[in-house]
Amino acid sequence: MIGRMITLEGLEGVGKSTNMEFVRRRLEAAGIDVDETREPGGTLLAEKIRDLVLDTADEPLPDLCELLLIFAARSAHLENRIRPSLDHGRWVLCDRFIDATYAYQGGGRGLPMEIIVRLEDWVQSGLKPDLTILLDTPIEIGLERIRERGGSDRFESQRLEFFQRAREVYLSRAEQEPERCVVVDASRPLAQVQDDLAKIIDLYLSNF
Ligand code: TMP
Repeated sequence: MIGRMITLEGLEGVGKSTNMEFVRRRLEAAGIDVDETREPGGTLLAEKIRDLVLDTADEPLPDLCELLLIFAARSAHLENRIRPSLDHGRWVLCDRFIDATYAYQGGGRGLPMEIIVRLEDWVQSGLKPDLTILLDTPIEIGLERIRERGGSDRFESQRLEFFQRAREVYLSRAEQEPERCVVVDASRPLAQVQDDLAKIIDLYLSNF
């Protein structure tokens, strides 16, 4: 049996880490063998590329180079971890994936969407998440949470408008693909957010 791929998406400070764990536990409680991973990253090589993408270095990282690095990391992640897991019937739960590329590199950086579409075709060869949960909050709430925890990688230090554009892309993709994407209002108290997550996962599982 082929496994399924579930992705969690959202801007910084929406509570992805806490909710990743919640979703993993919910799946495991249903007897599912879960491979929890993240992007950029997920393999030794892809984690090295992640450092290149996130660290502020002496030399500027051109936007196109950033995009190519993200797809390079994804290629390693797909071939060396995601596809083998799926082939073994494991479920892959991934903290960010292709929707983040459209949101951050397409929306935030303003790179042409056609380039991302072509790279997606080339690198993913049709592989898409089966279910994507988008944790959504107004930008200000997420940025405030980042400020509180003192984050300042290359993305966390972006301006408000960058995240506004990224959020718009996330929401419009979710609207265009309602059969794959579910949007959760993550500005509410955690218990309510997790109540929704539990319902989404249970509904998804009930369709098997
Ligand atoms: P995070 O895993 O701590 O959220 O950090 C990953 C960062 O990488 C986050 O700021 C978003 C960014 N990113 C992209 O810009 N494009 C992508 O395709 C992915 C997967 C992540």
